[in-house]
Amino acid sequence: MTGWLRKLLGGSSKRDVPLGEIRRSFDEAAGDEEHFPSTIDPRIYHVQLLLDTFGDLNHRRVLDVGSGKGRFDRIFLERYPQANIVAFDLSEAMLRFVPKAIHTCSGTMTHLPFATAAFDCVYATESLEHAVHIDVAVAEMCRVLKPGGRLVIIDKNAEHWGKLKTPEWERWFQREELEKLLRRDCRDATSRFISYWEDVEPDGMFLAWLAQK
Ligand SMILES: C[S@@+](CC[C@H](N)C(=O)[O-])C[C@H]1O[C@@H](n2cnc3c(N)ncnc32)[C@H](O)[C@@H]1O
Repeated sequence: MTGWLRKLLGGSSKRDVPLGEIRRSFDEAAGDEEHFPSTIDPRIYHVQLLLDTFGDLNHRRVLDVGSGKGRFDRIFLERYPQANIVAFDLSEAMLRFVPKAIHTCSGTMTHLPFATAAFDCVYATESLEHAVHIDVAVAEMCRVLKPGGRLVIIDKNAEHWGKLKTPEWERWFQREELEKLLRRDCRDATSRFISYWEDVEPDGMFLAWLAQK
């Protein structure tokens, strides 16, 4: 369908970027340690929020959706050595950086290769923004979560769109937009602004969505 016709029909005029193209782009970026680091300072609030929300992870199943190099997972495993953590990502090149003690699995978050209710905790940090079919990805994250399990999405605020250079498929989110998608399957869904440091007032760029199934 041509762009002008799609516009007339009310759809998006954006090109529907094939998944293979997105995967290739992240495979190529895997060597860029500056922009895609394999570690994160454990004091950063994003880490603290996940730890506080999930609690004791020993003997629990945790899914990191769009894990990249598993920088959050490393910290979780250090803190909770009996946790069963799966780093899931589209890019196998990214997954090669994940420590051996963490399980890895490649594929797309719009079709998670896991059983329904397989995980106690599910989270996605700055990865949902790349999923293109956002509603499907959120439904998949909720599907693989156990009843009572907790889900956290950390991503960027649509109100700040344009402040960073982004690939053409990337999307940022309104608070209510993701809350609404989460409420289809979860009984609680809230969101809040966060910053890297707990004592620094959030500038509105990052949001955390928290839900319980
Ligand atoms: C900006 S990185 C964030 C990585 C990691 N969550 C972190 O915070 O370090 C985005 C990641 O999402 C992955 N990704 C993009 N689209 C995906 C999809 N459809 N399914 C699974 N992972 C995807 C990319 O390969 C990339 O590793």
